[in-house]
Amino acid sequence: MQIHETVASLRAALAPCSAIAFVPTMGNLHDGHIALMRQARAHGSTVVASIFVNPLQFGPNEDFTTYPRTFQDDCAKLSAAGVDHLFAPTVAEMYPCAQSYFVEPDPLQQNTLDGACRPGHFRGVATVVLKLFNIVQPHAALFGKKDYQQLLVIRNMVREMNLPIAVIPGETVRAADGLALSSRNGYLSATERAEAPRLQALLARMRNAILAGEQDYAALEQRALDELNAQGWQPDYVTVRNQLDLQAPSPDKPGLVILAAARLGRTRLIDNLEV
Ligand code: PAJ
Repeated sequence: MQIHETVASLRAALAPCSAIAFVPTMGNLHDGHIALMRQARAHGSTVVASIFVNPLQFGPNEDFTTYPRTFQDDCAKLSAAGVDHLFAPTVAEMYPCAQSYFVEPDPLQQNTLDGACRPGHFRGVATVVLKLFNIVQPHAALFGKKDYQQLLVIRNMVREMNLPIAVIPGETVRAADGLALSSRNGYLSATERAEAPRLQALLARMRNAILAGEQDYAALEQRALDELNAQGWQPDYVTVRNQLDLQAPSPDKPGLVILAAARLGRTRLIDNLEV
């Protein structure tokens, strides 16, 4: 695997490549990331990964400075997964001058769920992903369903901006007890780690209730919030939405997804389940 720290070096190496599949990450890689790398192989003859902890998508009180950075381990995992090129730029390489052009996502998404809870987050994500797309020029790019709303924001950006890139979703990879793998799981204490699978268990129960015919989504949501609060969580949301735009379920927008975000101690966990 070749490692590139500069745009110029990556571009020179990729110049002869015709079908590039790209997986952007912020590093501290786990099996969820690696599953995307392996899946990428089916979508391109050259697989490119990036590791860049993007300051633009972190709020002032979020974990940009403490976000886990494990570069050597990450390189070993990417190499073993058959990744051809790793782009690992510095902040100065990605933002040589203060960024003044931004991708402003759909206001609907910016005011919904994580868009509402983390002001500026999706603008930071969309802006860095567009920059990475312009640098790598992939034919396909892979994103995990774990970050369901992020996947939607990227899909919408690609469609509205006419980018010639196929956006490929990857299923959420979970630990044996159901907890969705996340770089932020490392922040959990042993007690919190034992409690954390509740989030997924609760989504699974909601899905089962809906499949059994329950249509009072508000009551389901309230029961879930009550349970989380009673167990010491601080939930941001647990909500049933349509898959198309993540607004309230409606008969003309088929497909439901249940999404949740909640803080356990100092760790904010998100998860979702399609119905
Ligand atoms: P990061 O959190 O590192 O995630 C990189 C990719 O891995 C994302 O597409 C994410 O959805 C996917 N992923 C994370 N956990 C997963 C799991 N348990 N199963 C399957 N896929 C999983 O998401 C970002 O980085 C950034 O916002 C980024 C897109 C790189 C822009 O900075």
